[in-house]
Amino acid sequence: MKFFIDTANLAQIKEAQELGVLDGVTTNPSLMAKEGIKGAANIKKHYVDICNIVTGDVSAEVIGTEFSEMVKEGEELAALHKQIVVKVPMIRDGVKAIKYFTEKGIRTNCTLVFSAGQALLAAKAGATYVSPFIGRLDDVSTDGLRLIDDIRIIYDNYGYETQILAASVRHPMHIIDCAKLGADVATCPLSAIVALLNHPLTDKGVAQFLADA
Ligand code: G3P
Repeated sequence: MKFFIDTANLAQIKEAQELGVLDGVTTNPSLMAKEGIKGAANIKKHYVDICNIVTGDVSAEVIGTEFSEMVKEGEELAALHKQIVVKVPMIRDGVKAIKYFTEKGIRTNCTLVFSAGQALLAAKAGATYVSPFIGRLDDVSTDGLRLIDDIRIIYDNYGYETQILAASVRHPMHIIDCAKLGADVATCPLSAIVALLNHPLTDKGVAQFLADA
């Protein structure tokens, strides 16, 4: 299972990279705004800065919601760096844009996916990644993990190569459950990745070994 970090915070990206388990980065307009990155030029520079920290894929989201806008933005983003994956929302023109990018050899991440039907459309359009938002489904009393399970079954039934990128991951059990269900990637806050380290028996064992040594 691949681990992506879901942030635009360069310090956190560096910390995850240094841990040695990071496979990529996802961002979105809200995460860029949280870091105070504004304006097209600054946003593009920030994507390049992220690519220079990590070795894996970096998702960069388009803002436009019409086909022509998404194509223009996506082509500009993809030209920034070979690690960029163009993140496109699951809307009608988004599906058309994903198909367009697929035919051009530009990799995509279909975002804001909340149903198995949407995930099937994303795969048919050739998306490299599909991003089901499990935490936001949990927030509205709907089982986010069930969606991961459904998508895994559907993709395996037909051999779709689109990778399931579990998003809106909130805590370490989300990561573990996604791994059990066969998600290809989990994109997580740094806190959820680091929380996987924790076990009181490990702490107790280390303390005992140190004392005995
Ligand atoms: O990758 C999508 C993610 O950023 C959404 O997470 O916590 O805003 O639901 P959240």
